[in-house]
Amino acid sequence: MSTGTSTDLYDVIARRRDTRAEFSGEPVEPAVLERVLGAAHAAPSVGLSQPWDFVLVRDPATLDAFADHVAGERASYAATLEREQPERAGTFAPIKVEGVRESGLGVVVTYDPERGGPHVLGRHTVDDAGLWSSVLAVQNLWLAATAEGLGVGWVSFYREEFLHDLVGLPARVRPVAWLCLGALTHLPEVPDLVRHGWRERRPLADAVHHERWGA
Ligand SMILES: Cc1cc2nc3c(=O)[nH]c(=O)nc-3n(C[C@H](O)[C@H](O)[C@H](O)COP(=O)(O)O)c2cc1C
Repeated sequence: MSTGTSTDLYDVIARRRDTRAEFSGEPVEPAVLERVLGAAHAAPSVGLSQPWDFVLVRDPATLDAFADHVAGERASYAATLEREQPERAGTFAPIKVEGVRESGLGVVVTYDPERGGPHVLGRHTVDDAGLWSSVLAVQNLWLAATAEGLGVGWVSFYREEFLHDLVGLPARVRPVAWLCLGALTHLPEVPDLVRHGWRERRPLADAVHHERWGA
């Protein structure tokens, strides 16, 4: 199976997957990484604030420390399921939630609320618009990586303070995502959570409303 490369936007959107178990460990070529980060950096942002930064983590000691922390949080979630939703605990058990060590590269995407000055155009009434801008950088990165035949796995099983300190962020800067980024052995066609029977995708028709919610 191949990981495929394509620059057709709809095809890339359809092929994009969250990857965890498929990293080959091959390093990402610097020129490819530069293109992928360039795509992330081209994202729209409220008031052109560009509130994101990208911390590239390759040090095995840091990858180990983060993977250990994630393992602890995964265990804590599993224990919550055992207590409060035991019928789901067995379904969750085989699901891998990260490929931190295997990918060999973590991209920590951050949000700086002070970027763009005190009165960011467009964030006056909706403060969250700042955070959303960093998330758009994540999506651009994810799609560009897919177009390059690379995999991305978003890891959110962490305590923000832990990741904040692990990569030395300034006090005001929030970590938004740890993205495992790397070459793949193959790109799965079906989302892992569907494959494991955790959840199904909902039909588009259920998500579209006309004029008012529910119509
Ligand atoms: C905000 C966010 C956080 C996520 N956190 C995790 C995570 O901690 N571990 C994981 O394995 N997948 C994580 N995912 C991936 C989702 O499980 C995945 O996107 C979803 O199941 C749909 O699969 P697909 O991305 O392959 O279409 C996260 C995705 C998003 C958008």
